[in-house]
Amino acid sequence: MSFCFNFDVPSQTTNLDEEDGNQLRQGKQDNADLPTEGNNPADPVKEAKEHLPKPDPQVLLMDAVSETVVVGTLPPLHFLNETVFEKTAEEREDGEKILTLSAEQRSDLISGVYEGGLKVWECTYDLLELMERDGETFGGKRVLDLGCGAGLLGILALKRGALKVHFQDYNSTVIEQLTVPNVMLNCQEDDEAASDDEGEGKGKGKSQEADGLKEKSKKKLEGEDGGSLPKKRALDVSQHANLTKCRFFSGDWSTFLALVKQESPHPRYDIIFTSETIYNTAYYPALHQTLHQLLAPHGLVYLATKSHYFGVGGGLHLFETFVEQRGVFSLDHLWDGEEGLQRHVVVLRFKKDEK
Ligand SMILES: C[S@@+](CC[C@H](N)C(=O)[O-])C[C@H]1O[C@@H](n2cnc3c(N)ncnc32)[C@H](O)[C@@H]1O
Repeated sequence: MSFCFNFDVPSQTTNLDEEDGNQLRQGKQDNADLPTEGNNPADPVKEAKEHLPKPDPQVLLMDAVSETVVVGTLPPLHFLNETVFEKTAEEREDGEKILTLSAEQRSDLISGVYEGGLKVWECTYDLLELMERDGETFGGKRVLDLGCGAGLLGILALKRGALKVHFQDYNSTVIEQLTVPNVMLNCQEDDEAASDDEGEGKGKGKSQEADGLKEKSKKKLEGEDGGSLPKKRALDVSQHANLTKCRFFSGDWSTFLALVKQESPHPRYDIIFTSETIYNTAYYPALHQTLHQLLAPHGLVYLATKSHYFGVGGGLHLFETFVEQRGVFSLDHLWDGEEGLQRHVVVLRFKKDEK
């Protein structure tokens, strides 16, 4: 079965900004003709904003329960366990009410309200495995983790010497309650490693070995007693060099793009990571426009995805068709998993005359 999007293929001479902007404005109308399966809501709008570190950021880490993901020789990556949010939703700042909503509705995704950032999605692990396999270097690079959720991909770049790392998620609660604390948790761990030769206290909590590219389901290695998990001590990391390399944004992609484009010069990224973000075809115009305008001329977009997202309708084939019709990027498969619900990692780069 082949699908066709009703977007014009841009001519080679079109002004790039105008081209994408025009297409985006037509988005809703054109989306009426997109193939649908289940619901296909309109492009969501949540005004973008930048989140500045709180004056007392380590408060976010008090009593934090963490997990650690270990992939080959990559540095261990720490993140807050998602169950914490269910148990402590009432006590947390959550203007969007997504902590309670997602728990009440037992839903990983409420389109336009909560876009799934509170848990780590499995394609993130595939992308981490790919970074291990292909040995991507981050030294001196500008990196964007787009649709970051827990932010593990950006955190990897940070730990591997990126010049700067920007994190974007749809939901401000995700950025404030998960992404920022995770970055701090990893800064804290660096500090502990530096000051604690015995190595004890590092990476406490659950440890998770990612088996992404190996086609096995990811296995959680529980604490030995299988019971409660150790809590980390909160060190002051507010001035940590790695934290100062980071910026954090929430909001939908079109207003995020408008926000950063107010800066002169606006950021351009050598590497854009985006994992499990192409599940909804209604969002493709804004996503494509963001990649188009924020990727540096020789930059790479690493995109990890499932073949198909049941109930939402998007997937790799539809996104590839969309990208092909736009004619801006070439897209190559880096890894195709074959078992169960198929997963993929692809890379996008500008076609020669579109840089
Ligand atoms: C399924 S989650 C994946 C989270 C994370 N990348 C991972 O792999 O664990 C999808 C993410 O895409 C982002 N997203 C989806 N649609 C968006 C939109 N229209 N505007 C901005 N962000 C969006 C949200 O931030 C959300 O966290």
